[in-house]
Formats: sequence, structure tokens, C-alpha cells
Amino acid sequence: MRFSAALPQEGDPLTYFGQLGDRVVGAPSILAADFANLAEEVRRAQRGGASLVHFDVMDNHFVPNLTVGPAVAASLAAAVDLPVDAHLQMTDPDSLIPAFIQAGVASICVQPEIATHLHRSLDLIRSGGCEAGVALSPTTPPELIEWALPYIDYVNVMSVNPGFGGQDFIPEMVSKVRRVKHITDVPIAVDGGITAETAPLMAEAGAQILIAGSAVFNGDPATEMRKIIEAGQHFS
Ligand code: DX5
Ligand code: ZN
Repeated sequence: MRFSAALPQEGDPLTYFGQLGDRVVGAPSILAADFANLAEEVRRAQRGGASLVHFDVMDNHFVPNLTVGPAVAASLAAAVDLPVDAHLQMTDPDSLIPAFIQAGVASICVQPEIATHLHRSLDLIRSGGCEAGVALSPTTPPELIEWALPYIDYVNVMSVNPGFGGQDFIPEMVSKVRRVKHITDVPIAVDGGITAETAPLMAEAGAQILIAGSAVFNGDPATEMRKIIEAGQHFS
């Protein structure tokens, strides 16, 4: 059985994932960017066709790494003209969801492995006017989110373990994208080890949002972002 996200109603704010259609797009992950120049780094990737910013939040509990929170999200959202997607890799995401909504992010995804009451988290995100997503760690079965699908606007299939940039792509995640595609119509993002080589494999399997950190920021962000998007679009 396939589930769809609730259809947008008249008067709803414009949404990124809800209006994606069948496009394949690119999103730089700021984790690999120069944190002292975040807005400029994002603009560089935007010149390469990026249409969304992926903002990794890590708490040193769910993952062994620590990044940035709502204050930095607010500054970045105000400084760039791309929607910001917050990926909460943290325990107790509900405690910070309101602050990220207040910060002006466009979408928020949580890790269902640690969301105690996933429905409540998703509802909290949507009721704040943001799109709601789930990010699945590599060994998390897609079936875990089956009963949450009516409340989900996008699924992030992680192709590395959450916590760090620059890890090796886990090849089994191509089949996982196919499996997620089979159970839902919402757009699928892929996150971790995405390069011009792995992007086409994921796009061919049904992924539409190509999130890439080190592959974008370890070179010229505009050039590298464009390479990844074009590689993915070639197979879509
Ligand atoms: C990992 C993060 C990813 C990460 C991807 O926990 O969720 O967004 O930045 O980095 P790369 O593209 O370098 O694998
Ligand atoms: Zn991420």
C-alpha cells in the first residue's frame, strides 16, 4: 500500500518538498563548509544550482559530534535566499523544534530511532508551518515509519551513519531508496557520501534531493554542486 502526504490546502504557505514534482535537485550540507563563512559558502553552492540548504544539528549524544543550533540557523536563514532544511541528529528533538521553527527554517527532519513519540514530533513541526521529514539511519528499516507516513513530507535516506561528513557511501542504500519509493510518494532525499558517482545510482533508484557535504565543499562549491545535480538529473 502507498501513502501520500496530506495534500496542500488553499491558503497553505508555499512548500519546498510539496512542490518538487519529479525534479532532481541538489542541497549542500553545511557540515563540510567553512563555518566562519557559512552564508558565502551557501551562495557559492547556490551558483552551482543548489536550491536548498541542508543544516546538520548534532548534540554529542545521539551522535558523537557537536555542531550548531537555532541561533546559527536563524542567522543563516536570514542571510541566504534558499530554504533551510534542519536535520536534527539529537536526542529529545521536541525540545528544540520550536526554536528551529522560530529561527525560520523551512523544514525539519528527525531521526525516528530516537523520537519517543514520532507522531508528536511531526505534528509539532507541521503545526509550526514547516515541512516535516524523517531521516533513516542506514540499518533502520523503512517499515518503521509506515504508520507515520500521512504526517511526513519527505524522507531522508542516510547513506552513511549519522555523525560525520566524509564517510564512505554504503552501497546497500540504493536498494533502500527503492524500498522507500515503494511505500511512499513523498520526495526522497539521500544524505552521506553523495558524489557525482553515487548521485546517479540514487537518482535512478528514486531519490530526488541530493545532499552533499564534502563532495561540494572540498572543491569549488559551484562547480562540484553542478556536477552532482547534473549527474543525478541524467538518470532521472
Ligand atoms: C551526516 C550528515 C550529512 C553529512 C554528509 O551525519 O547528516 O549531512 O554532512 O556529508 P558527506 O556528504 O561529506 O558525506
Ligand atoms: Zn544530514
